[in-house]
Amino acid sequence: MITPWEVEGIVDYRRLLEEFGITPFGEFLNSIPNPHRLMRRGVIFGHRDYWRIAEAMKKREEFAVMSGFMPSGAIHFGHKMTMDEIVWHQKNGAKAFVAIADMEAHLVRGLSYEKTKQIGMEYVKSIIALGLEEDALIYFQSKNDLVKDLAYELSAEVNLNEMRAIYGFTGDTPVSKAFVSLIQSADILQPQLKNFGGPKPVVVPVGADQDPHLRLTRDLASRINIFSFETIGNGLRVRSRKEEMLEKLKELGFEFKKFEGHVDIFGDPQEIEKSLRELEIDLGGFGFVPPSSTYHKFTTGLGGGKMSSSKPESYISLLDSPEIAVKKLRNALTGGRATAEEQKRLGGEPEKCVVFEFYAYHLIESDAELKKLEEDCRSGKMLCGSCKRYASELLAEFLKEHREKRDEAEGRIGEFNILY
Ligand code: TRP
Ligand code: SF4
Repeated sequence: MITPWEVEGIVDYRRLLEEFGITPFGEFLNSIPNPHRLMRRGVIFGHRDYWRIAEAMKKREEFAVMSGFMPSGAIHFGHKMTMDEIVWHQKNGAKAFVAIADMEAHLVRGLSYEKTKQIGMEYVKSIIALGLEEDALIYFQSKNDLVKDLAYELSAEVNLNEMRAIYGFTGDTPVSKAFVSLIQSADILQPQLKNFGGPKPVVVPVGADQDPHLRLTRDLASRINIFSFETIGNGLRVRSRKEEMLEKLKELGFEFKKFEGHVDIFGDPQEIEKSLRELEIDLGGFGFVPPSSTYHKFTTGLGGGKMSSSKPESYISLLDSPEIAVKKLRNALTGGRATAEEQKRLGGEPEKCVVFEFYAYHLIESDAELKKLEEDCRSGKMLCGSCKRYASELLAEFLKEHREKRDEAEGRIGEFNILY
């Protein structure tokens, strides 16, 4: 069972793809100029509508990246993954939005706003240290009126049965969970408000547990628009919440056929979509583009299972001292065998190894070097002791550097646009 609030059991990524219509990410590897290591290594395994983003990057059109972090506990390497993805998209032309989900941490986890502010600022320092540039918008949800007003507006577009179907809510689920879900939808749609230049493709990099929010948001986006549409073979089928508006579609100048309740427009779907959106904006609508998303695999906890800020023994924090971090890594679950003799004979199993995951997700940028390590592990040429020593060196080095960059970020925080 996967909802944004709990992930239980072993995650079958293939089933996620099939059941929810998430598309495998691999198809983009050849069309993106310098894919991120998490893309190259299949850690980002799925997406929705990423073609909108790939195309915007290629044509140098406006697009945005947005994701959010719940400031409820220590910032760890699972968060780093999302931060790296935001920074990568920003470097590739996206306007970046970073939400600190203090309303969620307050309402769902019961933290005081004082506490969420303190923890949230640690997240802010880390994402700046990881390379976020100044033209991003960083905001605490509770301080963002645009987001709160939009959430209020969106609440009219969804009923409790739908909430139940999407999130598994029951009769005694607190309404706050519905509330924070709508706030999150507003986070995701905010970059398309006219204050930020209007409709545009937006990519939301998240862990697969957040997909329910994206499904809801994509629905809400199309419902709150004046026009909603689906592709048909040779064009678009358009509906409208205000049926009289369908008349206006004649003005677009495409071939046009009116039916009871909808209109079919014939031509290049992307061109029609573009003029439809312009018309909607003229008519005072939102014209939201359905948000795109990418999904990365969960970060494995040090002892197996999911890494989670509610289980301190499961993670290494970005704020841990190198000494502590190295000690934790030394005790991590590996894919090694019971004895050295056996490992020399059979080789290790990197696919089951948390240390190898650290290499692949965070510590080693070069694909060639990673491949060499994998081979040396599999062949039994390298044993876990020396392998862990090498990983520890890289980890300690990263944490030391991160600490320095965080201090530097603290001094530069005034140059950033932060609502807090
Ligand atoms: N709910 C997310 C979490 O628990 C945090 C979040 C808030 C978020 N707003 C968002 C994620 C918008 C993606 C997009 O981690
Ligand atoms: Fe993991 Fe390294 Fe041991 Fe292989 S040798 S199982 S990668 S710790």
